[in-house]
Amino acid sequence: MAAKLFALLMMLINLGLGTVNQYVEEMNLGGNLFLVNRDFPVSSDYVPQDLVKPDVAMTASNIKMREEAAHALEDMFRAAKDEKGYNLVAISGYRSYGQQTSIFNRKVKNVGRKAAMLLVAPPGTSEHQLGLAMDLGCKRNTSLTESFGKTEEGQWVAENCHRFGYIIRYKEEWTDITGYAFEPWHVRYVGVEHAARIHELDIPLEYYIAQLREAQYALIAAEME
Ligand code: DAL
Ligand code: ZN
Repeated sequence: MAAKLFALLMMLINLGLGTVNQYVEEMNLGGNLFLVNRDFPVSSDYVPQDLVKPDVAMTASNIKMREEAAHALEDMFRAAKDEKGYNLVAISGYRSYGQQTSIFNRKVKNVGRKAAMLLVAPPGTSEHQLGLAMDLGCKRNTSLTESFGKTEEGQWVAENCHRFGYIIRYKEEWTDITGYAFEPWHVRYVGVEHAARIHELDIPLEYYIAQLREAQYALIAAEME
């Protein structure tokens, strides 16, 4: 991992301060790289202003995402169908702070707080509140369980979602970093450029963001010399 992160840092530094500054801007609230997790919560009243309903198959009628992410999702679903004949299904997109509270509390009631913390983000710490995450399934598996990752469709999503700007956010081997168990169904929109790099390096978003900050510090320091 250390070698990969160093290679990423060097690559970012080579892009120069202008480009890295633009990437760091995307880490602000409203940007595609905004990081939300238990260490970096979002305020309870944050509601994205450009939520739309993606034109894809869905298990409920009111599933929404931010506009750019929604169009990218449409492209991904279309490609899955055209290239492979797969029928992907959207299951859960934007969730308000209040909705996340209900889901979290229900999970705590069902499995206890410790187990719930591995499965559902406490209110204010979910990417679903950003409108940049979607839980997916396919026609024959809408279970939101690890079994989706074993389906052909789930494997296609893992290998191809980056082409549409999405990353698999919670991989099994990253639980200590992300705080969550493997979620092959949860994809997070970050934009094509960043998704391609994150996919190729196979690193969690937390590490990608950290290297961006690191590169910006290094470039600013170099300018001051
Ligand atoms: N299941 C993910 C971690 C969420 O609740 O946002
Ligand atoms: Zn999710």
